Amino acid sequence: MSGTPAMQFRRCGRSGIDLPAISLGLWHNFGDNRPLADIRAMLTGAFDMGIVHFDLANNYGPPPGSAERNFGQVFASSLAAHRDEILISTKAGYKMWAGPYGDWGSRKNLLASLDQSLRRMGLEYVDIFYSHRPDPNTPIEETMSALDTAVRQGKALYVGLSNYSATQTREAVAVLRKLGTPCLIHQARYSMFERGIEAELVGVLAEEGVGSIAFSPLAQGVLTDRYLNGLPAGSRAMDADSPFLTPDKVEPRLEQVRLLHAIAQERGQDLAQMALAWVLRTTTSLIIGASSTRQIADNVAALGGLGFTAEELGRIEAVLGQG
Ligand SMILES: NC(=O)c1ccc[n+]([C@@H]2O[C@H](COP(=O)([O-])OP(=O)(O)OC[C@H]3O[C@@H](n4cnc5c(N)ncnc54)[C@H](OP(=O)(O)O)[C@@H]3O)[C@@H](O)[C@H]2O)c1
Repeated sequence: MSGTPAMQFRRCGRSGIDLPAISLGLWHNFGDNRPLADIRAMLTGAFDMGIVHFDLANNYGPPPGSAERNFGQVFASSLAAHRDEILISTKAGYKMWAGPYGDWGSRKNLLASLDQSLRRMGLEYVDIFYSHRPDPNTPIEETMSALDTAVRQGKALYVGLSNYSATQTREAVAVLRKLGTPCLIHQARYSMFERGIEAELVGVLAEEGVGSIAFSPLAQGVLTDRYLNGLPAGSRAMDADSPFLTPDKVEPRLEQVRLLHAIAQERGQDLAQMALAWVLRTTTSLIIGASSTRQIADNVAALGGLGFTAEELGRIEAVLGQG
């Protein structure tokens, strides 16, 4: 898209992989509740803007599995010629099918789920296979050995952890290293409003040489101008398929959002762009969600203004401190 800044690439921990600073996630807006034409426009538009990393999971939809299937359809017809230019990730660990083997961190669940994901996407391998969440009732050695097996089977090139705490990450990384499959990346929620990784996890990842990728960097759209003038129809907060963002979660944040919006305007950015630039001070990459190609372009334009003055950071901290 003309006018969008060039994508920036950043080395992912101690590995050979460079990640685009901005990646695209298919959690929302890529299921069967969206026309395939819109999905195609967003995926191919993102690729044209240099977003070469697409983040999926077995359960993304609705219904679960449909985001992978829709991605596979678009990929086959529009992106397959670029397979070696693209990083595709998927995950297993949340409930996907009935019975005891369709959930959590057993070897049985992870490896069966990966086979299902590959079939839905029509791929021979994914670039990154994640354990989507830690499983307190399964030995960490079992979950990690399933990730290792996925790589040895040629079904994944790299492995990652998501939603693991600092302590769990240290343990899992050590097990993976022993198995000979180093952990490439850790995926965690991180935004101006969700700063849990700062206390410990960021330090552990730096020490262990593991890259980091933030999810929900816009707090699911709250850290944008989306809700500045009310709750628009079609927005995530008003979508019955999106139980994780509801109007009662948006409203208490609006005063801070207005103050942050004003700081962003002074910087010559919109709030989404400032929120993304702020996250990229801490993580290797981030995963945006989007409901239109216009939003993706708007977000990529954040790369034109990544720097912050100490004064701006201080003012932002003061606003966040009011939360
Ligand atoms: N590992 C995990 O457990 C986990 C959990 C959650 C997410 N993730 C990953 O992270 C990805 C991103 O999560 P997310 O969708 O919550 O991220 P997000 O970027 O915080 O939120 C995306 C939403 O923000 C709004 N938006 C985006 N750009 C905008 C702009 N420029 N202006 C106004 N509004 C804008 C859109 O809302 P509207 O739809 O209202 O337009 C969009 O759907 C997911 O797709 C998934 O790949 C992983």
